[in-house]
Amino acid sequence: MHNRLRARIFTFVTGLALLGLITGCAVKDAPDGGAAPTAAVSATDLPAGDDCFVWSEDDLLLSDFLLYFVDCGSPDAAEFPTGMFAGLCQSVSDMPYGTDPGTGKVWGYRENPAMQRDADSLGKGATAYKWVIDDSVTDLSKAEICYDFRVPDGTYTVTLGFYNPFGVRRIDAECEGTVLVDSEKILRYQENEKSFSVDVTDGELNLKVFNSKIKNFMDTPILSYIRIAITPEYTKELLSAAVKAMAVEHPEAIYTAGSSKNYLEAYAEAQEFLAKDGKAGENLIRLKFNNLRESYKMLTKQYRYDSFKPGAVWRDTENTPIQAHGGQVQQMEIPDPETGKPVTKWVWVGEDKTNGYRGGVCAYSSDDLYNWKFEGIIMKNVPNRRVLETDPYFKEVYAGYSSEELDNVALALSAERAVIERPKLIYNEKTDKYILWFHADGPTATSDSNYAAACAGVAVSDTPFGPYRFVGRYRLNTCPPDQEDKYPESKGMARDMNLFRDTDGTAYIIYSSEENLTLYISKLNDEYTYLATDPEKAVYGVDFIRLFPGAQREAPALFLRDGKYYLMTSGCTGWAPNQARFYVSDSVMGEWESKGDPCLDDENHTTFESQSTCIFRDPASDTWIYMGDRWFADALHDSRYIWLPIEFKENGDMEISFVSEWQLP
Ligand code: GAL
Repeated sequence: MHNRLRARIFTFVTGLALLGLITGCAVKDAPDGGAAPTAAVSATDLPAGDDCFVWSEDDLLLSDFLLYFVDCGSPDAAEFPTGMFAGLCQSVSDMPYGTDPGTGKVWGYRENPAMQRDADSLGKGATAYKWVIDDSVTDLSKAEICYDFRVPDGTYTVTLGFYNPFGVRRIDAECEGTVLVDSEKILRYQENEKSFSVDVTDGELNLKVFNSKIKNFMDTPILSYIRIAITPEYTKELLSAAVKAMAVEHPEAIYTAGSSKNYLEAYAEAQEFLAKDGKAGENLIRLKFNNLRESYKMLTKQYRYDSFKPGAVWRDTENTPIQAHGGQVQQMEIPDPETGKPVTKWVWVGEDKTNGYRGGVCAYSSDDLYNWKFEGIIMKNVPNRRVLETDPYFKEVYAGYSSEELDNVALALSAERAVIERPKLIYNEKTDKYILWFHADGPTATSDSNYAAACAGVAVSDTPFGPYRFVGRYRLNTCPPDQEDKYPESKGMARDMNLFRDTDGTAYIIYSSEENLTLYISKLNDEYTYLATDPEKAVYGVDFIRLFPGAQREAPALFLRDGKYYLMTSGCTGWAPNQARFYVSDSVMGEWESKGDPCLDDENHTTFESQSTCIFRDPASDTWIYMGDRWFADALHDSRYIWLPIEFKENGDMEISFVSEWQLP
């Protein structure tokens, strides 16, 4: 974790004294019976029974000066339970007094037939086990739990933990001739932790837990855990050693942005503090030290992926599950936020379902398609009409909008009523704008249905990651009079949608219309902000076409490969998955031929329990990727992503097989 070499090993005398932590050492017990060794030896090199205390300064700092953390009553030589870490002097969680098998240090409980191990199913970590007193013992004066620890002389923080499953009982504790606990009540199943400062002057810390007012076996003592840590002196030297021991270069490359930021702040503060001349109070130094120590401990590794796992939870680089449902992935040249120079990034936009059904639009960026950085909610939905004029974010985004326009925004993006689905992003070279299209739905003046509006929404931004400014939501083209309208009751409906930009720069919107009975493809204007021609004047075959009237297809994904246009779709069964179908054509507005289900060995005919949303190509590996949603209707926030590689047969037909894990070639 830290980038310093661990070569400098300090003896207690040289190291800690230099650090000003503590003076004096159990020198009398050094292996040759003389002075403490000054050579670079590690604790584990020492022969058993040796108790000269040798640690590196890093070890001390990074173990919080902890020498022992005893999980009392756990099986002798037990491994450390999760959530507990060993002190520097121990290799096992508990043991009878003697030489530790791993560290050579001398410590342990004084053997006493009255002591009995007790496991507690309600306890966790260090409270899962404890010592109790055997109720068959007749001599109540034996009802005590004693531990001895050989330590260098100095000041220690001793912490005792009691986890009591019995009725209230009284506890006394003594250490080094001092009363630590004076007949205190230990309440049932409550956190009972007590810390004390203890001076050791004879090379051994002796601890006894008992009950001075014991009357019967209902009063016997218990003990769950013991921590013994050196009490450091908080000096500038100590802080400076911590700054060295806890240095991490470029933490943001490995750790989450949030934890890196906290750490870098604490680190900079400590450095600044050290750079100042003059004396500093111990409390202030302790504060800086603890801030640094805590933020260092809290550094959280980013999840790193090197494969796709269709259907598994997929986390972003902050370890948060990705919220980009009904989405789209594309490679874009976008300005680097720091240099402003264009960089090539993968961009994923999709529905934010953090709070369930209703939400805004999220964006993520990636260099490798596996690991995604959250770029924010690029279009927020609107909690209420008022915030558009009071909240700084909305005020800025909608500056210059008339009151009537703001009414429209509040309606179309309402966090309480609007439905924002299947967002798709497109960049317009002519205007240098990013345009977000989405299925904009919700109740209307005449219907309470969530899908009554049936519109296509448009929002625009100067930058890929927004904020996007909502422009409008529209009904689109209508069935020409000489064709059979499958749903004449409501004209120009637009629901599940996608975008496609052809090689000549013409862009199209592909969407379900006529109450989802017929797919439409409509040409967009040069700015990609509306239809090429108003529905009233639109010419069939030039400005739009209808596809598969009455076939009930949705979730369209259109792409161009080797001069052939492909369109993948699903049936219309809400959140429940159904059988996919794909179509092929020589041009966007041409004749589309139905080719059937591209999925192989899809036993239940459910597109491997997913619904199409986008198909794109990774040019580096020449891989076509199917992107679908596995919706969980009862837990939409937890809906999963199904990404699968697409194979193309000799005749150009597409085939998708399920693989539970795969990599780009
Ligand atoms: C699906 C559609 C989804 C969503 C869902 C609601 O048919 O593809 O985007 O609208 O219905 O039930």
